[in-house]
Amino acid sequence: MTSVAAKHAKGKKLKDVIFVTAGQAAEDVKINGREFVVNGTLGAIHDEEGKLVFLKTVKDEYLALDDCDHIGYAPIAGLPDFLKAAEEACFSQSRPEGYIRSIATAGGTGGIHHLVHNYTDPGDEVLTADWYWGAYRIICSDTGRTLVTYALFDEHNNFNHEAFKNRVNELAAKQTNVVLLFNTPGNNPTGYSIEDRDWDSILSFLKELVAIGRNNVIIGIDVAYLDFSGEKEEVRSFFKKFGNLPKEILTCVCYSLSKGFTMYGQRVGALIGISSDEEVADEFLDINKCTSRATWSNNCRPAMRTMANIMADPDKFAAYEAERNCYYQLIRDRAEIFKQEAEQVGLPMLPYRGGFFITIPTDASTVICGELKKEHIYVIALANGIRIAACGIPKCQMTGLAESIYNVMKRLGKL
Ligand SMILES: Cc1ncc(COP(=O)(O)O)c(C=O)c1O
Repeated sequence: MTSVAAKHAKGKKLKDVIFVTAGQAAEDVKINGREFVVNGTLGAIHDEEGKLVFLKTVKDEYLALDDCDHIGYAPIAGLPDFLKAAEEACFSQSRPEGYIRSIATAGGTGGIHHLVHNYTDPGDEVLTADWYWGAYRIICSDTGRTLVTYALFDEHNNFNHEAFKNRVNELAAKQTNVVLLFNTPGNNPTGYSIEDRDWDSILSFLKELVAIGRNNVIIGIDVAYLDFSGEKEEVRSFFKKFGNLPKEILTCVCYSLSKGFTMYGQRVGALIGISSDEEVADEFLDINKCTSRATWSNNCRPAMRTMANIMADPDKFAAYEAERNCYYQLIRDRAEIFKQEAEQVGLPMLPYRGGFFITIPTDASTVICGELKKEHIYVIALANGIRIAACGIPKCQMTGLAESIYNVMKRLGKL
């Protein structure tokens, strides 16, 4: 093949099974109608009629903005009101102690990009769990890094501390900076959330590691599903644990407006750095601001303004939270239907605590998903499982879905 691409870019090709499968589902809907097609592909909330949800409280605020806020540039670091609001929305009553700095990013994705780019060197490895969002690998490979994994679950489906520690120690022996990506609460694809007692063990282990004096640890926490993973304050209480850590540990929270404010395509989030050291915190802001200028320059002003306005007005904020909560409950109800039916029919499922997705572990996902498509059921074939978007499947279609999947797996001898 003739190629004029640079060496590092040669051979790059995006295979996005999620958007491809979503496209196939949309085609099927056009031909057969919405009620005949189960679309469990994308991580976006759809209502019980199958329509993409734009929270009314957010929509009203967005459409009422003046021209300057609709189309004007924003500062490179983001609108200051937005950054303050993002920290409040993210931490609520569990703001950790320490020096906190924030920068606007292109969704949560942008935050992950910045932290990989600025806290590892080309050729380095980045560590995450083996159940991870596929974009992590692409971000790493595109920036010349390698994503490596540890087994998330032990034999009882609890956090696998042994596997985690072994992988961290291996990495710490090779690199000064150990960058860790956690996607919790409501992990994509499993719906699993790391529990408080597990965080305590993880942090005490990491503190021991940096005390040796060889490494820095950057804890990336991707909280894309924070608003759909449990009671508001309870689900945020773990943030407190990231205050008063040694200065060699920097925590970077990747916050996003995509899910919680239903502004997926507006591409806004915030990368929030927490450090016990002021210089580390200031450096965080400086280096990430520079990377923003060098990538997307600045972010979507109307989405930032919309969110900041809602957060600044107690009545609007209360209305927004009530509305969003209804959808959280709806997704929980849908997941509960699936969970109960899976248990009844004997379909294996990973531990779901919240978020948009449910996962069935299997090493035959491609053939199973291929068969399911013949029954107009569109779900995502992962390397090690099948991901089902509970955020998008109405309750009436959720009913019976576990059994349909079970039957296909049984027929194929894949149970
Ligand atoms: C695990 C995870 N992290 C982050 C994101 C961020 O999305 P966005 O860049 O739209 O904020 C997503 C979206 O699908 C996700 O699933």
